[in-house]
Amino acid sequence: MVRRFDRRPVPAEVVGRILDLARRSPTAGFAQGVDFLVLDTPATIDTFWQLTSDPQFPPGPDELANGPTVIVLPIADHRPYLARYSEPDKAAFGLQHADAWPVKFWEVDASMAAMTALLAAVDAELGGWFFGMSHGEADVLAHFGVPDGLRPIGVIGLGYRADDETPIGSATTRRRRPFAEQVHRNGW
Ligand SMILES: Cc1cc2nc3c(=O)[nH]c(=O)nc-3n(C[C@H](O)[C@H](O)[C@H](O)COP(=O)(O)O)c2cc1C
Repeated sequence: MVRRFDRRPVPAEVVGRILDLARRSPTAGFAQGVDFLVLDTPATIDTFWQLTSDPQFPPGPDELANGPTVIVLPIADHRPYLARYSEPDKAAFGLQHADAWPVKFWEVDASMAAMTALLAAVDAELGGWFFGMSHGEADVLAHFGVPDGLRPIGVIGLGYRADDETPIGSATTRRRRPFAEQVHRNGW
C-alpha cells in the first residue's frame, strides 16, 4: 500500500484503463454486480474527507495534503446476484435471498475487483491504497447519490507515489507469517 501521493493528476484514461481491468475481474454467475464510484476532482475528494473524517481522530493537514488524487469506491450490489441466482441454471442453490448466502459473493467480487485495480495501478506506475471507511459512510453514499442499500467494501486511493513515500502501517510492525505456517498441504 502507498499512503502518500504527489499532486500530479492521474490522466482520466489511466484511471479508465485501471477500472476497465477491474471490472473484468471474476464475478459469481457473471452477475457483474460491482460498481465503481470515482472521485477525481479536488472538490469531490475534499468532500469525501470532510464526510469521512472522524472528529475523534481527524486526519492531519499533512495527510490530507498528500492524500490520493483519485478515490474509488468499489460498490457491491447484491441485487444482480439475487436475480442471477433466481435463473433456471442457478435456482436450485436456493440463493434467492441475501440471507441465504453463506458467503456474500457480491462482496467477494467487489474485493476481487479492488485487488485487480490495485495491481493495475502498479502496472500504470501509480501507487494504490486500500482502506476502510470507519466514519461517515452513509453520508458519503447519500451525498454522491449511491442507490439505497448498496455499500462499498472499502476505499481505493490512487495517485502518483510521493518521492518521500516510505512504507508505514501494520506491515512494518508485524511479522509476516511463515509460508509453512500458513499453507496446509494435504491437510491442516
Ligand atoms: C480489508 C482491508 C482493510 C484495510 N484497511 C486499511 C485501513 O483502513 N487503513 C490503511 O491504512 N490500510 C488498510 N489496509 C491495508 C493493510 O494495512 C495492508 O494491506 C497490510 O498491512 C499489508 O501491507 P502491504 O499491502 O503494504 O503489503 C487494509 C487492507 C485490507 C485488505
